[in-house]
Amino acid sequence: MAQKIFLKDLRDYVGQEIMMEGWMFNKRGAGKIYFLELRDGSGIVQGIVFVKAVSPEVFKIAEELTMESSVRVTGEITKHPKNEDEYELQVKNIEVIQLVKEDYPIAKKEHGPDFLLQNRHLWLRSPTQRAIQVVRNTIINAIYEYLNTNGYIKIDSPILTPNACEGTTELFEIDYFEEGKAYLAQSGQLYIEAAIFSVGRCFDFGPVFRAEKSKTRRHLTEFWMMDAEAAFVEHEENMQIQEGLVEFVVEKVLEKNLKELAILERDIEPLKKIKAPFIHKTHTEVVKELREMGSEIQENQDLGAADETMLTMKYDKPIFVEKYPAEVKAFYMKRTLDDKFALCADLLAPEGYGEVIGGSQREDDYGVLLGRIKEHKLSVEDFDWYLDLRKYGSVPHSGFGIGLERLTGWICGRQHIRETIPFPRTIGRIKP
Ligand code: 4AD
Ligand code: MG
Repeated sequence: MAQKIFLKDLRDYVGQEIMMEGWMFNKRGAGKIYFLELRDGSGIVQGIVFVKAVSPEVFKIAEELTMESSVRVTGEITKHPKNEDEYELQVKNIEVIQLVKEDYPIAKKEHGPDFLLQNRHLWLRSPTQRAIQVVRNTIINAIYEYLNTNGYIKIDSPILTPNACEGTTELFEIDYFEEGKAYLAQSGQLYIEAAIFSVGRCFDFGPVFRAEKSKTRRHLTEFWMMDAEAAFVEHEENMQIQEGLVEFVVEKVLEKNLKELAILERDIEPLKKIKAPFIHKTHTEVVKELREMGSEIQENQDLGAADETMLTMKYDKPIFVEKYPAEVKAFYMKRTLDDKFALCADLLAPEGYGEVIGGSQREDDYGVLLGRIKEHKLSVEDFDWYLDLRKYGSVPHSGFGIGLERLTGWICGRQHIRETIPFPRTIGRIKP
């Protein structure tokens, strides 16, 4: 029996007989020769079936093999006669694991987004969708690596929660036995704030939920967030940590995923410019700049999607928009001394992408935070545990949350973030 290999390792087996297991995603040829495009998840190879090199039975299998059929193929790996770093499989035997009997729904022709989303379970197999998932995996691992080497440990925050983190209008509500209502977490931030008093610096990374009625290319109702939090870190240092992290993540993708970025036709020149320090501007400065560019944004308003696009097209580095008017930001944010602005920053990705990170220094004074909770008409009873953190050894602390799909969408250069999550959930879609 020939040794089973993964197609990503082809170059190590030139001249040897091997076995691969996978799927046939395309076929060309007729008469005396067939070219089978084979993939195994880790890579692809062209299998050449020459009538004189195989038994009549095997040649017949090649003739009849249909798209996406699963196969076990043996043969010798050879170097491509022309292309550098490309290899071919001179097929000796094909064993069919399952022969596909119907036409594969996703053909080579262009399909509309709706059709592709309905067939997401199959669409995931396409080279572009596979490439996005491979890059997403690199990003996830790079985030873990950066945070772990910078003294953060992972603390898993709960998904079922009694209270809101990011405002009460976007909550998925469920009945929780005798306890009444519970909600799906919008962010694990409040919980990892509790954990920094145990471990100093920590992060969570998991699915979060927003019952937002936004139908934009940047909104999902379920998405993955990494919240990071650190004790004794204030506003400025909080941004430095984010710069280091984003720079590291982009570096890792450029190191590991050039093939995938090429499949995605992602221009990598803009990514090479992602080096700290990034651009820093206050909300006040940004409003002035945007108004000069024709936006109607007001001093006391959050940036709209169009504002973010306009601003980020102008610069080739990510932009921190700092110190938003306090009234448009969350209750937990510490404010500037004059009480007017939040000590926060949103990080906007360049090339028109917009917000990928939201973060801030947290209010650490018991009385002030209690006042905020009341101002925001939140239940003091629900937040008593969060207030406790300001009673027992309160310290200045800061953190931020990255939307994994937004970050992946930017790095992969995708228009809509729904392509970056394996099974997107949006207002109108819960299947597959
Ligand atoms: O800005 P947000 O709402 O901040 C928080 O939730 C904080 N508690 C995070 C923290 O400080 N630990 O969300 C953080 C990020 C956004 O910058 C964006 O990238 C992403 O999460 N995000 C979404 N991604 C996809 N779909 C949505 N509906 C999103 N809403 C936010
Ligand atoms: Mg935000």
